[in-house]
Amino acid sequence: MRRDQPEDSNFVLKAGLLDRIGDLLVQSGFDRCVVVTDHNVATAWRPVLQAGLNSLCQDWIVVPAGEEHKTLDQVRELYGSLLGLDVERRTPLLAFGGGVVGDLAGFVAATWLRGLPFFQIPTTLVAMVDSSHGGKTGVDLPEGKNLVGAWYPARAIWADPRTLRTLPRKQWACGMVEAVKAALLASPGLLEKLEDFSHPPDPSARQDSEIQELVSESARIKREIVLRDPWESGERVLLNFGHTLGHALERAGDYARFTHGEAVGLGLLAALRLAGRRGVLTEAWGLLGRVESLLAAWDLPRTIPTSFRWEVVAAGLKRDKKKRQGRLLFVLPTRLGRAEVFEVDEAEVCQVFAELQVAEGSPELG
Ligand SMILES: NC(=O)c1ccc[n+]([C@@H]2O[C@H](COP(=O)([O-])OP(=O)(O)OC[C@H]3O[C@@H](n4cnc5c(N)ncnc54)[C@H](O)[C@@H]3O)[C@@H](O)[C@H]2O)c1
Ligand SMILES: [Zn+2]
Repeated sequence: MRRDQPEDSNFVLKAGLLDRIGDLLVQSGFDRCVVVTDHNVATAWRPVLQAGLNSLCQDWIVVPAGEEHKTLDQVRELYGSLLGLDVERRTPLLAFGGGVVGDLAGFVAATWLRGLPFFQIPTTLVAMVDSSHGGKTGVDLPEGKNLVGAWYPARAIWADPRTLRTLPRKQWACGMVEAVKAALLASPGLLEKLEDFSHPPDPSARQDSEIQELVSESARIKREIVLRDPWESGERVLLNFGHTLGHALERAGDYARFTHGEAVGLGLLAALRLAGRRGVLTEAWGLLGRVESLLAAWDLPRTIPTSFRWEVVAAGLKRDKKKRQGRLLFVLPTRLGRAEVFEVDEAEVCQVFAELQVAEGSPELG
């Protein structure tokens, strides 16, 4: 893809779509495909997709599940499998799974034979609302997450919300955090829907149409932003809302103490507190209460353990790509549905960090 071209992926979201993927590929001019998936997704959904691909010649590559396999070693293994399958330049690669499979298979698709046709079939909430859109692919190095990668948007993203029926609750929670982020960035209405959906937080009791609506609205927000700024030269930075402190907390906990969603949830609380302290968001404390109660509903943490030392977290913040001449850049909400980038002092973040280590519930600040 040329750097001056915006993303042109199609996004189709429909219950039952897995049954029709073969037809969609044939309509796109393909008679063969290779599916990359992980063990969990294969166990739950391989027979359904296999039936949906029906007469299409299909090969499957199943990788172990988990972030620890989003590596260059796994990329090499995949190259080996593609060699063995005699994949040609026009053979499409389908990433069938969560963000790990999408990032990994996307990077392989971007680089094998200088680029294979690439399609995403996301099966986690995170992948449906976030990672499958926007064209970022890549793998981790021992030195850091997502350090190697390529911009390689999928030709199409085909999401079947039925697949979320087998998603563990903890993974639902991670996706909810990204949806809450999207709502705070751009949609007061979505925040209300997420609140309704989370009380009680039981997706199994919901209709496909309700789940579809949440995914559709959250994904729309990300897609609109990345379409306007595909190369992250401006507005797309807003998608880092909650992620600046979130990434630093993940790193400070050696990627074991907090999941990404848990850390980003805390990052959202920190950003709301920063916005409140600075007076850029008049409704900060009310919103803080709403987000805290959403996180609580999904059993996500609202406080930072006292074992976390500020110096360690601050070192992680300074390693973050988003800083300008020594000052930290934070995305802060300016009202519900709007956010901007602000330069903040380390001391301000330190204050908020300290509040989150003791605070249970909203502060008494006015
Ligand atoms: N490219 C981007 O723009 C972008 C954006 C956000 C996140 N990411 C990346 O995405 C990854 C996280 O993605 P994720 O949260 O989807 O994690 P994941 O891919 O690890 O999936 C989470 C777990 O759920 C399982 N799973 C997936 N679908 C399932 C289903 N339908 N039923 C049962 N189990 C299922 C997986 O096997 C895995 O164990 C991270 O590597 C992150 O860096 C990328
Ligand atoms: Zn995220």
